[in-house]
Amino acid sequence: MPNVTVIGAQWGDEGKGKVVDWLASRADIVVRFQGGHNAGHTLVVGSQQYKLSLVPSGVVRGKLSVIGNGVVVDPWAFLAELDRLAGQGLVVGPELLRLSDTATLILPMHGALDRAREAARGDGRIGTTGRGIGPAYEDKVARRAIRVADLAEPAVLEAKLDELLRHHNTLLAGLGAETYDKGTLLSELLAVAPRLLRFAEPVWRRLHEAKAAGRRILFEGAQAVMLDVDHGTYPYVTSSNTVAGAAAAGSGLGPDAVGRVLGIAKAYTTRVGSGPFPTELTDATGRHLGERGREFGTVTGRPRRCGWFDAVMVRQAVRLGGIQGLALTKLDVLDGIPELKVAVGYRINGQAFDHLPAGRQAQAAAEPVFETHEGWTQPTSGARSWAELPAPAIKYVKRIEELVGAPVTLLSTGADRDDTILMQDPFAA
Ligand code: GDP
Ligand code: IMO
Ligand code: MG
Repeated sequence: MPNVTVIGAQWGDEGKGKVVDWLASRADIVVRFQGGHNAGHTLVVGSQQYKLSLVPSGVVRGKLSVIGNGVVVDPWAFLAELDRLAGQGLVVGPELLRLSDTATLILPMHGALDRAREAARGDGRIGTTGRGIGPAYEDKVARRAIRVADLAEPAVLEAKLDELLRHHNTLLAGLGAETYDKGTLLSELLAVAPRLLRFAEPVWRRLHEAKAAGRRILFEGAQAVMLDVDHGTYPYVTSSNTVAGAAAAGSGLGPDAVGRVLGIAKAYTTRVGSGPFPTELTDATGRHLGERGREFGTVTGRPRRCGWFDAVMVRQAVRLGGIQGLALTKLDVLDGIPELKVAVGYRINGQAFDHLPAGRQAQAAAEPVFETHEGWTQPTSGARSWAELPAPAIKYVKRIEELVGAPVTLLSTGADRDDTILMQDPFAA
């Protein structure tokens, strides 16, 4: 049985959390390998709704969950999320959740710097979640980051804070923002250290043993291919690699551990924050998708920009991400729309393109070439078998498969865990 890696195939919020929760019933371990609490994954299980940011979606099924070294962890956000879950009756202790001892910490100045830079950018802002994700990854690459294991070594922690504050206070002062005091930060970190260290371990060893014993590992991606720092719509991206290859480096396993790659895509497109969006709809149809799909950011509450399905972009994501099968979500949101459009190419300054080129001006100028599809009147909402789907919906799904070059192996027709149609089990593939 192979492992499975789930990644977003658009600009995030495709329903990764729902799909991971669903697949987790077939897995032994669920692993987050990149991103941080910029992610927001909503799971609906009957009358309960869980909103997860850092904690892998496997915890809801009581599956052993791991936060890998590639994740950036805000200690206070982490503990607050555990408290929130406990408030919902889901107590997550170290027997259920393990945290990599080499994961990078997000500290308060990272969020402050993120927000101060965004304010300084004005209209040119990226539209980040303001949670310090970018600055924390910068520190990691610059080799000055504080990592989980440092919490157990107060002398190291203090010395690292010196270096970190020399850097950050200079930047923050230059941006006219408040600076930070070492003594305060040190005592705040030491105060939360015991609670965090309960979860910490070299997770690569546990994962290695699980793999050797033939356990099924499910890797849960955050964000999406078009937000990947190398392959996405740079600079309007997040600060990590979101493609499936990142699952290995971000958890401490070899590339063969990645297994089957399942890309998640909505039956239309959404995006939060700034940046190019060729199929964006700013008209009544766009507003309809937003309302019907309840398209508000889980993390920031911002309304998501909405548009038609972009097959050019998803095909690019399929190739970049190594996606072997696609889970198509929110098909129900298209119910009742008389005519649907799908982008099959772009025109940029009069020239035809079969992909989104790298140039920032070219990306901004990309005009979609659409093909039109008949909508459906019989609802797909809540459908749990292929036989329940109206013919035009089946035709739409089949056309998407053809255009993006990957089979649709799972369909989602509602937010609830069970509003799911499985055509091919990725673990059995
Ligand atoms: P993620 O970040 O990829 O995990 O996605 P989010 O959880 O941020 O956003 C997806 C939203 O759509 C959540 O509120 C889900 O509950 C909801 N959702 C997921 N799948 C479906 C579906 O098939 N139909 C509908 N109507 N809602 C869905
Ligand atoms: P999930 O896992 C949608 C977007 C932000 C912004 C850009 C950079 O729920 O799909 P960052 O704070 O990461 O530096 O912001 O990336 N972004 C997301 N958009 N879903 C997400 O996560 C996102 N995480 C980051 O809106 O445009
Ligand atoms: Mg989300």
